[in-house]
Amino acid sequence: MNNNLRKFCVAPMMGYTTPHARKLYRILSKKAFLFTEMISSKTILHAKNRDLIIENNHQNPIALQVGGAEYKDLIACAKIAQDYNYNEINLNVGCPSKAVQKGNFGACLMKKKKLVRDCLSAMANNTNIEVSMKCRIGIGNKFNYDFFHEFIDEIIKSGIKIIYVHARNAILNGLNPKKNRTIPPLNYDFVYRIKKNYPYIQFILNGGINSLDDAYKLSKKFDGVMLGRLIKVDPFCLSNIDKLFFNQTNNNNIYQNIIIEYFDYIKNRIGHDSIFRLLSPLLHIFFSTPNGKNIKSEINLNMKNYEIDKLESIFLEFIGKQKVVI
Ligand SMILES: Cc1cc2nc3c(=O)[nH]c(=O)nc-3n(C[C@H](O)[C@H](O)[C@H](O)COP(=O)(O)O)c2cc1C
Repeated sequence: MNNNLRKFCVAPMMGYTTPHARKLYRILSKKAFLFTEMISSKTILHAKNRDLIIENNHQNPIALQVGGAEYKDLIACAKIAQDYNYNEINLNVGCPSKAVQKGNFGACLMKKKKLVRDCLSAMANNTNIEVSMKCRIGIGNKFNYDFFHEFIDEIIKSGIKIIYVHARNAILNGLNPKKNRTIPPLNYDFVYRIKKNYPYIQFILNGGINSLDDAYKLSKKFDGVMLGRLIKVDPFCLSNIDKLFFNQTNNNNIYQNIIIEYFDYIKNRIGHDSIFRLLSPLLHIFFSTPNGKNIKSEINLNMKNYEIDKLESIFLEFIGKQKVVI
């Protein structure tokens, strides 16, 4: 297994790590390991527009994240992931939302370690694709290393070798997913300790990494790092990853070219997906700029009218004028 492949990962984020956002990420970095959003096993199996939802348009290395807990469904999903040329299928054992709990998957599965073990081994034994898991460090208000250790001990009996850990507990009652990403305290030490217990497993650290400098430092201490919200608000920081983490240069420092390449991609998709979904990965450029609001309303107007060439000019002009540092 390539131990460097997951040195820098972009976390799965529902509503954000769409196929389109991933296209932008891939223009910005050839090396970052990408994730889809979490997609439920039922959606993967039965959605009429499956191609649109899980397409992997040469975005490797990339994992398909699935939510579910039924062996048969998960095996079928793993086979689909393999057919769509994903590098990995990842089981979500970290989402605390009420809807997901109701479906009996996500973080509540940390209380059912044998079921998770069996789901993972079912996928691994019936396909050739790499199988992995993303979990929290515990459930509820209190830290409990023994609970985490026993959970991981059971999980690795499935034979999986890669575990992404969002290093905070999930609180299943009373906190929505957003608060579950800020209120439970971080505890990187648990991830450090579990790695010492299982040195042959890759543990990728996730949670609260707010700068590339921190990410780089932590990547020396852990098998890899996974970042979510930093990429969500500033996807353009990905243009630094190949150099910083992999010592490889890429040609993406001509920022206008990034926009042109992304618009070429969009133009082929107009009519197949909503213009908002297509453009939303770029809209973050305007978030922290003083006149961002005005431009956003101009963009909104042009989006309504499907003025794609006009939109491209606005983006290019903005970037040229602002000398946006991306
Ligand atoms: C908008 C949003 C959507 C998310 N959706 C998912 C998801 O689909 N699957 C998942 O495992 N985690 C999801 N997460 C959690 C992230 O993957 C990550 O674990 C969390 O944000 C902590 O990392 P960060 O501090 O770098 O953001 C989501 C996070 C955000 C902000």
